[in-house]
Amino acid sequence: MDEKAFFDFLNTRRSIRTFKDGAIDESKLSKILEACNLAPSSGGLQTFEIYQIKNKEMKERLVSAAKDQTFIAQAPLLLVFCANPSRSVERFGERSQLFSVQDATIAAAYAQLTIHALGLSTVWIGAFDERKVSEILQLQQSQRPVAILPIGYENEKPKEKTTRGSEDLLHTLD
Ligand SMILES: Cc1cc2nc3c(=O)[nH]c(=O)nc-3n(C[C@H](O)[C@H](O)[C@H](O)COP(=O)(O)O)c2cc1C
Repeated sequence: MDEKAFFDFLNTRRSIRTFKDGAIDESKLSKILEACNLAPSSGGLQTFEIYQIKNKEMKERLVSAAKDQTFIAQAPLLLVFCANPSRSVERFGERSQLFSVQDATIAAAYAQLTIHALGLSTVWIGAFDERKVSEILQLQQSQRPVAILPIGYENEKPKEKTTRGSEDLLHTLD
């Protein structure tokens, strides 16, 4: 992929909150997982877990755990990315808490871009009650939900994107 194609790809990704009916092919899910598997992770230990939810009742419960963002249940597939520090606690001690959140976040970001590359859409859902989501997914105590990605085919025109601009992001110290 050349530089222009790469930036065009990044530029055309948008958060989508309205989805058409229609299931996601297993082959597309496999590609998303392949990308997550390729993400960098702390010590290469991949200290995250991914839960898929297709069940309507479970989706509705997640909507209510996520401040009633009803569009979440409209998506045919939800992936919930969770930090699992128990996979690295022996090696990294207290730091494994942070590393596992970072591992789950990077994997979810890889998934988000892959979803776009596959012609699907999503939006990062971070506004949720962690305790309720953990209960719904019956997570082990050490695991922590980091992001929910509702995935489907887009049924809205995304808004123009506004950003801070590159200069505002960079602070030069010399
Ligand atoms: C950490 C994080 C949490 C977010 N939580 C939510 C959320 O709970 N609900 C939602 O609709 N969008 C959520 N978003 C999506 C952002 O609103 C969106 O990425 C931002 O407005 C930029 O738009 P874009 O993704 O189209 O570039 C979240 C994004 C991030 C990175």
